[in-house]
Amino acid sequence: MGQGAGYGKVILFGEHFVVHGVPSIASAIDSTTVAKVVSVPAGQLPAPSGAEGSMSGDGWVMEDDRPANPGYKAEKFPQQKKSIELVFQAAGFDPRKRPVKIHLGGDLIAVGGVGASAAVCVSVARALDEEFKLGFDDKKINDVAFIGDSAYAGTPSGIDNTASTYGGLLWFVKNPGGPSTMDQLKIKKPLRIVMGNTLLTTNTEAAVAGVRKRKAEQPAKYEAIFSRARDIANLAKKALAAYDIAEVGRLMDENHSLLQEIEVSHPKLDELVAIARANGAAGAKMTGGGLGGYMVALTPEKAVQDKVAAAMEKAGFKALKTTIGV
Ligand code: MEV
Repeated sequence: MGQGAGYGKVILFGEHFVVHGVPSIASAIDSTTVAKVVSVPAGQLPAPSGAEGSMSGDGWVMEDDRPANPGYKAEKFPQQKKSIELVFQAAGFDPRKRPVKIHLGGDLIAVGGVGASAAVCVSVARALDEEFKLGFDDKKINDVAFIGDSAYAGTPSGIDNTASTYGGLLWFVKNPGGPSTMDQLKIKKPLRIVMGNTLLTTNTEAAVAGVRKRKAEQPAKYEAIFSRARDIANLAKKALAAYDIAEVGRLMDENHSLLQEIEVSHPKLDELVAIARANGAAGAKMTGGGLGGYMVALTPEKAVQDKVAAAMEKAGFKALKTTIGV
């Protein structure tokens, strides 16, 4: 059996803007998807169990035991299947010649906003590599996951698979027409955050396409917003290096306003952001594709992290307490 893990991620600055070349800051979180791959003799592949998320293709079958938002696995079934097929292709692996059984588990919740789809790609690529001694390094795993994740995100920037592969706190730039660049950022101490889950399943591809369309229709308005997003990313990099929590939080708040202006937030995300701020978070914003999914609140002190998470749960949402910059 081969086994591999992919980190979940949180985007602290610059989702959506990153697709168009604006720098972004993301971090791996303390939750992972774990894939197990077992080679099966030809003709002995079992049928999928029929449980939610179970699926099969030519030469492979997969069972999905990840915790998930209600309805997520059913809604994402076609993308998930395509994503696995793309991972095989990008890895140069033909399951018709070498049939495999895949199992997905781990503690990362399958939902938009935490990099769940990229974490599946990374974990499956790593497990295949281990089972079949494919000799992949992290760069190859990241490249394979980028292609696999395109089934979910259309034209992804690559920030999700990069955070999921390498971990840590990252400065990520998608250079138009050239290779993306990534630098690990160091901070003095890990930072506690709360990720608030709207319980709404999202569609990143549609959200990205919507921004692209509105940007083309209203170039002057969008240029000004994108220029400010660039400034915010640069200021946030400095503030993180200086461990200036108040400034990082203020910039997160401003980043959320920009995401509202480009119409990728959602009333439930805005409600969670308001709850976080009212309960002492240093800053809060939606995270990832938006239109549902997750938001992130910066809560360096444990007491504030507990208070913010409890207030979210009391209002009927789900809260994930985790840390970044580990
Ligand atoms: C999704 O986690 C982040 C987006 O910026 C899309 C991408 O970067 O591919 C919305």
